[in-house]
Amino acid sequence: MRILVTGGAGYIGSVVTEHLLGAKHDVVVVDNLSTGHRGAVDPRVAFREGDLLDGGFLEPALDGVDAVCHFAAFSQVAESVADPIKYYRNNVSGAISLLAAMRAKGVKYFLFSSSAAVYGEPDSTPIPEDAPARPLNAYGNTKLGIERLLADCSAAWELRSLALRYFNAAGAGERCGEDHRPETHLIPLVLDVAMGRRDELVVYGNDYPTPDGTCVRDYIHVKDLATAHLVGLEKLVAGHAGVLNLGNGTGFSVLEVIRAAERVTKRTVHYRIGERRPGDPAVLVASSAEAERVLGWKRFHPGIEEIIRDAFAWKKRHPDGYES
Ligand code: UFG
Repeated sequence: MRILVTGGAGYIGSVVTEHLLGAKHDVVVVDNLSTGHRGAVDPRVAFREGDLLDGGFLEPALDGVDAVCHFAAFSQVAESVADPIKYYRNNVSGAISLLAAMRAKGVKYFLFSSSAAVYGEPDSTPIPEDAPARPLNAYGNTKLGIERLLADCSAAWELRSLALRYFNAAGAGERCGEDHRPETHLIPLVLDVAMGRRDELVVYGNDYPTPDGTCVRDYIHVKDLATAHLVGLEKLVAGHAGVLNLGNGTGFSVLEVIRAAERVTKRTVHYRIGERRPGDPAVLVASSAEAERVLGWKRFHPGIEEIIRDAFAWKKRHPDGYES
């Protein structure tokens, strides 16, 4: 298939692109490089630098395209709370513009990069897809809003969409990895401390109702996310649509991640306990039973140490991130 990947210069989009190319798909990457990196774009793809809000740019990029994987979005929770307009404009308006262009060009299949942030503070874990969606921040609201937009568009014309709600993506692909500026995610920050690139990690609170008091998250290898996209595309074309969680099904606390990183790197991770970060739920762990059932999806890299090892290997190869 010919697949348009928006946000293909970003972390998850670039790793999914690696896998699409590996499966012999023909890939067009659209990215405005506002947070993505030119160096993350595989030389084998057709790269179109531009903005989703520019419909005149998008429509030609959709020529001959069978399906769209939509990753392009701002994704920093705290920033979304401080500047919701920025998030709604980029994430929601970007999706509207993309869907309008797809409709104009007759492109029917849409794989959407959604988030566990749609659940907010869950009543219980592991979280199934039919748990109440009550986002705690503007970022989660934009993801949920786009899911609803997709459902409405699917009812109005022959669009078919699958929204994949990722839990905590981590690790690296063969070529591509995680390079956010600024970095806010736990595993790359822990590795920066282990590598001596930061003095210490601030653990955001140790008074949560969890076994060691620090927040528990479900870390899923970005390569396992990528394989879910490959099967997700097949299922979309075969007639499946809807919403699926993608996680590991096992939670690790912040302190457990630090210990695992110390084992992997054989270095000490200095940390201190700080204040809670506003908007952090205590525990977010997915039930991915539905994704396993519907997609026949299996995780090949479920271990936290393997996830951290791959992230560490990438960081050692790219200590300052991508060069461009
Ligand atoms: N954490 C720290 N110190 C840090 C960074 C993170 O203690 O310096 C903690 C956080 O409080 C949290 C855990 O480490 O408990 C993981 O934090 P991340 O920032 O790595 O990830 P989040 O769980 O906050 O967010 C991720 C994605 C979001 C998505 C969210 C779904 O990055 O895009 O999962 O809830 F919205």
